Amino acid sequence: MNYCKISPELLEQLIEIAGAENVLTDKESLGNYAHDETEDLHYYPEVVVKPADTATIATLLKFCNKYLVPLTPRGGGTGLSGGALPVHGGVLLSMERFKSIIEIDTDNLQATVEPGVITEEFINAVAEHGLLYPVDPSSKGSCFIGGNVAHGSGGPRVVKYGTIREYILNLEVVLPTGEVIWTGANTLKYASGYNLTQMMIGSEGTLGIVTKIVTKLIPKSQHSVLMLASFGENEQACAAVSAIFRAGVTPSALEFMERKGVEWVIRYDDIRFDLKDDANAFLLIEFDGDDMDMIFKDCEKVNTVLEEFDCSDVLFADTAQQKEDLWRMRRTMAESVKSNSVYKEEDTVVPRAALPKLINGIKEIGSKYGFESVCYGHAGDGNLHINIIKAGMSDEDWKNKLKDGIREVFVLTAALGGTISGEHGIGLVQKEFMPIKYSEVHLNLMRSIKRVFDPNGILNPGKIF
Ligand code: LAC
Ligand code: ZN
Repeated sequence: MNYCKISPELLEQLIEIAGAENVLTDKESLGNYAHDETEDLHYYPEVVVKPADTATIATLLKFCNKYLVPLTPRGGGTGLSGGALPVHGGVLLSMERFKSIIEIDTDNLQATVEPGVITEEFINAVAEHGLLYPVDPSSKGSCFIGGNVAHGSGGPRVVKYGTIREYILNLEVVLPTGEVIWTGANTLKYASGYNLTQMMIGSEGTLGIVTKIVTKLIPKSQHSVLMLASFGENEQACAAVSAIFRAGVTPSALEFMERKGVEWVIRYDDIRFDLKDDANAFLLIEFDGDDMDMIFKDCEKVNTVLEEFDCSDVLFADTAQQKEDLWRMRRTMAESVKSNSVYKEEDTVVPRAALPKLINGIKEIGSKYGFESVCYGHAGDGNLHINIIKAGMSDEDWKNKLKDGIREVFVLTAALGGTISGEHGIGLVQKEFMPIKYSEVHLNLMRSIKRVFDPNGILNPGKIF
């Protein structure tokens, strides 16, 4: 695609569309929007535009479509697959001024919210009404709900409550050609043609710009219990995961952490935790509900299962502070690994009973290629994040050989019945691995859908395929 550079004349038009104060071209601003949380990648946009209403975005997209200017949408910039990187320059559309929680409808248990609202602020706002919006990725303090829609985000509670896909009822979307549609209806059911709402979720900003989001809400549980189980081996911890579900319980979170991740997070985040010598792998298990007796019964069932898998210790978080510390330990793991080493983040997902094979396979591939890895993630969903650490690897091998190792990890993931990403998306950095999982026929279907929405290929080009 021959995209058009932004000439002084086109810049004048952009200023007319969005207002001079919302159009940035100075080097420092462009630098601020040139990266997300993906490794150390930087791509500079030619201009940053910050509109605050749907009509302006519609005009902006008509402009980009007419002049063939690439446009990359951006939420909170916390993405881990490079989805918000403006790889072709052009316009960087920041959604940061779409900050309004428009309505919390306590009659219907729904809310209407703009995409630039920080996820945690939305969670807190609905909690004031005794309601739960359970989609809370580790980046919840800075990610935007619009970015969560774009990625089909999850987080630790998916195992009981489902991903964001379960909570989005309807979306206002500006299409790449500048028309505005609502994708569905503010209803809990939907049998009226193709489901464009689900099509938009997880489309990584390649099909349209979401400008309003209608979510479902649920009642918030009164109580929760959090326990940390320690194991001597990764394999035992991972094998316990599917056994817990087979015992007939559904935790509200079931997270896996490797010892090395815990060591790093203790150092980085100053968490007080007595790390025992024989504890090499952990499961963080949470139950929630309104009835403490039922919760304790579930904990007992889990304890019985854990005994079968050589669990060496079970710590119950007694205080709110202890709960917070354990959750902080898990949630800041990505950040602490990142601050400690040159690293690469991969996001694998398999049917959960395949987790032991996945983790053993990752370690074997690591030995073969000479990389270390810190694994952690949403074990209850079979979703394992792999932080690959440069450690002793030479610059040369890191640059050239590592890719083959990562490819092997994804080949293994696919062979185990899994796929390339559970929640971080494909974006820029994982697209080369898509053919491991999807045939040319499958990928061409996706490409055809993209062309229907975006005939000129101006919206977030260079992503997914
Ligand atoms: C987490 C992010 C990295 O689970 O997805 O912490
Ligand atoms: Zn995660």
